[in-house]
Amino acid sequence: MTAEMAKDQVRIFDTTLRDGEQSPGASMTLEEKLQVAEILDDMGVDIIEAGFPIASNGDFESVREIARRAKRAVIAGLARAIHADIDRCGEAVRHAERGRIHTFVSTSPIHLKYQMNKTEEQVLEIITDTVTRSRNLIDDVEWSAMDATRTPLDYLCRCVEAAIKAGATTINLPDTVGYATPDEYRQMFVDIRNRVPDADKAVFSVHCHNDLGLAVANSLAGVAGGARQIECTVNGLGERAGNAALEEIVMAIRTRGDVLPYVCNVEPKYLMRASKLVSAVSNFPVQYNKAIVGKNAFAHESGIHQDGMLKNAETYEIMRPEDVGVKATSLVMGKHSGRHAFKDKLKELGYELGDNALQDAFRRFKDLADRKKHVYDEDIEALVEDEIATAGE
Ligand code: KIV
Ligand code: ZN
Repeated sequence: MTAEMAKDQVRIFDTTLRDGEQSPGASMTLEEKLQVAEILDDMGVDIIEAGFPIASNGDFESVREIARRAKRAVIAGLARAIHADIDRCGEAVRHAERGRIHTFVSTSPIHLKYQMNKTEEQVLEIITDTVTRSRNLIDDVEWSAMDATRTPLDYLCRCVEAAIKAGATTINLPDTVGYATPDEYRQMFVDIRNRVPDADKAVFSVHCHNDLGLAVANSLAGVAGGARQIECTVNGLGERAGNAALEEIVMAIRTRGDVLPYVCNVEPKYLMRASKLVSAVSNFPVQYNKAIVGKNAFAHESGIHQDGMLKNAETYEIMRPEDVGVKATSLVMGKHSGRHAFKDKLKELGYELGDNALQDAFRRFKDLADRKKHVYDEDIEALVEDEIATAGE
């Protein structure tokens, strides 16, 4: 990419409090949701989907309270294509400075047959009716085609056209079951935006589930196809294998601006804090090797990597830990560590050994690391103290 190429703004739509909370066992209290919403708002998320107001009085109350407190984010609530849902959602989000009704209906043949028992024509009427009703309550209306990626393109075009005609300002085309591949997903956006009249009146949105581990790749592919809103969750929390992970999307855009010419408003230094908070309140631990926010995301044990890191961090790190709110890279001492890292660790612990003592201590450290899974600073201190004491005998 050339320096003068303009970068397009991509909106980050966080649905941790709605789709994320739909993970079995991840439900949060009102107080916890308020804490999560506050950090999302502070970090620059553009739209916070705060919940599903018709689902329960508690959900209604939390969407309304988040709407009242939001400082800058748009606050969205989810509504099925049912008048009662839409009205309840409108009631909850109207307290926001900027509120949004997000209404959805299934469009794929399998959902129409087994879930809705409706014909294609009936669903088209429902889209017009429910988007119109939403627009009568609020100016900012998002419409989603549930299971869009398993919907025949011709019919999906008719649905999108109906939603835009009825006033939808955002069109979301979810990969509800995590079935798409990046090329397919990108092409779907290209085709729909080319074929649907007035497509440019709406912002197109991606919403990807991670059943095949492709949620982030698909999201970025959808953006390459013309989408300008990404729906995602902190830690990738969400139904089944989860949603696209917010922190991965933000850092992919930040780190690979050379091939992903977009900008987003999220300030990455909040990412680790948001991850820890969501993990704590949802009771979902973050896997050690999770990209960006996992315990090992900035940890190195192999001797070759540690040696490189001590010479220049860019040898094995493509992001700076402090940029995402992680204090520092950690060089974990273990059996794969080399002499360079060992010497550096001793210096950090306040020891400077002569060549022979260092050689001896390093050999003893390797023996210890073979026997012990984790070698802590205390182990190394004990070993060196012993080395110093015996050297003096
Ligand atoms: O995955 C999905 O299709 C959804 C919709 C409600 C947007 O979460
Ligand atoms: Zn979803």
